[in-house]
Amino acid sequence: MAVTQGTPAIVLSGLSKSYGAVHAVRGVDLSISHGETVAILGPNGAGKTTTIDMMLGLARPDAGRVTLFGRTPADAVSAGAIGGMLQTGTLLRDLSVRELIGMVASLYPNPLSIDDVLSITAIDEVADRRTHKLSGGQAQRVRFAMALVSNPNLLVLDEPTAALDVSSRRDFWTVMRRSAASGKTVVFATHYLEEADAYADRIVFMTRGRVVADGPATEIKAKVGHRSIRATLEGPGAEELGALRGVVGVDRRGASIVLRCQDSDQALRDLLARYPNVRDIEVTGAGLEDAFIELTGDPAEEDTSSEARA
Ligand SMILES: Nc1ncnc2c1ncn2[C@@H]1O[C@H](COP(=O)(O)OP(=O)(O)OP(=O)(O)O)[C@@H](O)[C@H]1O
Ligand SMILES: [Mg+2]
Repeated sequence: MAVTQGTPAIVLSGLSKSYGAVHAVRGVDLSISHGETVAILGPNGAGKTTTIDMMLGLARPDAGRVTLFGRTPADAVSAGAIGGMLQTGTLLRDLSVRELIGMVASLYPNPLSIDDVLSITAIDEVADRRTHKLSGGQAQRVRFAMALVSNPNLLVLDEPTAALDVSSRRDFWTVMRRSAASGKTVVFATHYLEEADAYADRIVFMTRGRVVADGPATEIKAKVGHRSIRATLEGPGAEELGALRGVVGVDRRGASIVLRCQDSDQALRDLLARYPNVRDIEVTGAGLEDAFIELTGDPAEEDTSSEARA
């Protein structure tokens, strides 16, 4: 399908959906440009899957609109412009992996070569195995292959690495990087904060059906993030340390100190000047984990209040 530069890849406007009394998605507005890699993060029940299902035209919004490359999801999907990988869903049984990928390829106008896709997704070794005899991680890779084979401009992936072991996860992201580098737009939902941090240009945080933050990982970290200085230092009390310039909070446990800093460079200079015997110094940025908790509330609380895990 011809892709007009300038038209965003994805536009969600005022998107809402309820399941009975559950407001799964409440007024989401989002515009994603060509070539962006965007992670959707959020606790269980935040509305990530519901949003993705609406993007792929699998669920109907109660209100609002989805536009993919200026078209409806149904049109964009049937043109082969979109590759989707769902969080759940079984593979067709009684077909080999190769047959299944071949069948999907035959539905689209410009598919990739089946052998290439089998090799990119590292399932060539199980290509002749029946789909119901695959391990969880292998089945996951087959689902990824199904998303790739139509050679889509946009990949939409719901927790693509959920069942993968560490090395498969790394391989998966290598393939994704290549796809993103070749100009594809990628949207993925994940619970792995480090994954979003490492692979996404942009992070969209959702909680309770709403987008609560949207920006580059670094910006989101900066929003909530203070850096911390950890060190070993006997002597000065919390009050004395708290008086150092740039320090906003002090935590002392035995000889270990943690200084929460609003200006860690200044704090470090003062700390070294005042206490030359300070040692084991480490400066750490705020992790996405901190951002996550700060922006979405306590995820543990969300888990139990949602019925997503019933
Ligand atoms: N088919 C459905 N029927 C009823 N309620 C649903 C249905 N699908 C989702 N929900 C509810 O909508 C809310 C959002 O669910 P959704 O699956 O979009 O969340 P999620 O962010 O993908 O969560 P997870 O991280 O657990 O995958 C949840 O409260 C969930 O229980
Ligand atoms: Mg989900």
